[in-house]
Amino acid sequence: MKIIVAGTGFVGLTHAAVLSESGHEVYAYDVDAKKIAAYNSGDPAQINHYVNEPGLAALINETINRYLFFTTNIEAIIEGTDAIFMCLPTPPRPNGSSDLSYYDKALDYIAPLLAKRQDGRRIVIINKSTVPVGTARHLESILKRHNVPNFGIASNPEFLPEGDAVERSRRPDRVVVGADTEDDMRILRRVYSQFVNHVRIAFIETTPETAEAIKYVANTLLLTYISFWNGIGARLGEAFPNVRMEDLKRGVTADNRISKWGSYVSNGAGGSCFGKDIQSLIYQFKTANQPTGLLESVYQINEYQKTYLIDRAIHEAGAKFNHKTVALLGLSFKKQTNDMRDSSSLKVVESLLARGVKEVRAYDPLAIPEAKHYFNPDKNHLFEKISYFDTVKEALVGSDMVFISTDWEEFRGLSGTIEQVVKPPFLIMDGRRMIPDYTEMVTRGYGYIAVGSPYLAPKS
Ligand code: UDX
Repeated sequence: MKIIVAGTGFVGLTHAAVLSESGHEVYAYDVDAKKIAAYNSGDPAQINHYVNEPGLAALINETINRYLFFTTNIEAIIEGTDAIFMCLPTPPRPNGSSDLSYYDKALDYIAPLLAKRQDGRRIVIINKSTVPVGTARHLESILKRHNVPNFGIASNPEFLPEGDAVERSRRPDRVVVGADTEDDMRILRRVYSQFVNHVRIAFIETTPETAEAIKYVANTLLLTYISFWNGIGARLGEAFPNVRMEDLKRGVTADNRISKWGSYVSNGAGGSCFGKDIQSLIYQFKTANQPTGLLESVYQINEYQKTYLIDRAIHEAGAKFNHKTVALLGLSFKKQTNDMRDSSSLKVVESLLARGVKEVRAYDPLAIPEAKHYFNPDKNHLFEKISYFDTVKEALVGSDMVFISTDWEEFRGLSGTIEQVVKPPFLIMDGRRMIPDYTEMVTRGYGYIAVGSPYLAPKS
């Protein structure tokens, strides 16, 4: 099939590459000529600069100029196209609603081209980015206004976790397609023919509105798991010293009905989806006069979680941050990515600077270039207090305390490294429970405070 993917961010680029692998003729379109030139170069470093996903650059190099083409010009390729996937950013507005201006702008360009088509064949315009319930219908009305002939609209949300996008696109748990007519469904089945009769992959055919709703319910339920564990499980471990977090987790999730995913208590979930989607759903509910209590609690628990270890360090451990040097381990919102969107580390840095720290010594295996962009001293002179290091050890040198914010594997069992580099008194704030032998460290004079554990004061 001939397919256009409009928008080549994380979702669009991965989708285009994986579709081209199944032999479709795929044109990935973007307004940004620099991005398109980078993808066209095939150079992994240039591709990763925009979207850093394991296996993606290699996959692009396998199919580029055979099945996969990059372009800034849809007009030249529109004839004979069967489907257009809309993969545009839909950032949140301050009131939580989704900003559809990128999406509308792309349509302003595409709709007149669709209206001028000569081929007369059926074309389906499919929303892949997360858009509020009813957006496919909005799309339909725009295309009708432009007198586009013989078209259908559809919703096909993506559920890709970052860092595993290529593999999960090849082997998704489910493919959800929402369309109005059998003709359009037939086109979608051909796009995804490798998944239609798959024994393990659920191919779910439904209405566009249901498909849109599935995405919101799935993401807010995942965040609810996390907030439940952070707001209930972790609190139990913090309030009652003999409640062991890891045993609690295993004991509860041994029940097949209960998800294991989400039970990793943390200093909050970040990323491009969870915060944005729950805020958007709250806004959609308010607009529809539906109660939002549960959603608001889930959101608030997650936000509170991002910095509450710093408040606990002050109240439980008597920590003072003024003029102190703090090592910050982990900047990305989770391991295996350089993405810092909505990352807890942003809030941690904000809180540390507001408390007058002398220096933040940051380390992250991937996200330092990204962090320099977020913490640009031209935006806020306090960011001058942040320095960046190539190793955990260097970041720890001369620090009074450490905050572990991301679950990078290399932070697991950090006790040896900490003990090599810094001597007590030293406070460990562990947002990811990365130090299993913390009770031993306490006997050697280190203070330890973690999500899911009460403060343990140094014993010697
Ligand atoms: C998520 C969804 O998983 C995906 O289906 C959706 O399409 C987009 O949003 P992603 O944002 O890539 O994907 O991250 P995910 O792996 O789900 O993690 C989100 C955040 O939750 C991270 O900060 C992670 O560290 C945190 N998390 C996850 C926890 O704090 N505890 C857990 O048990 C699991």
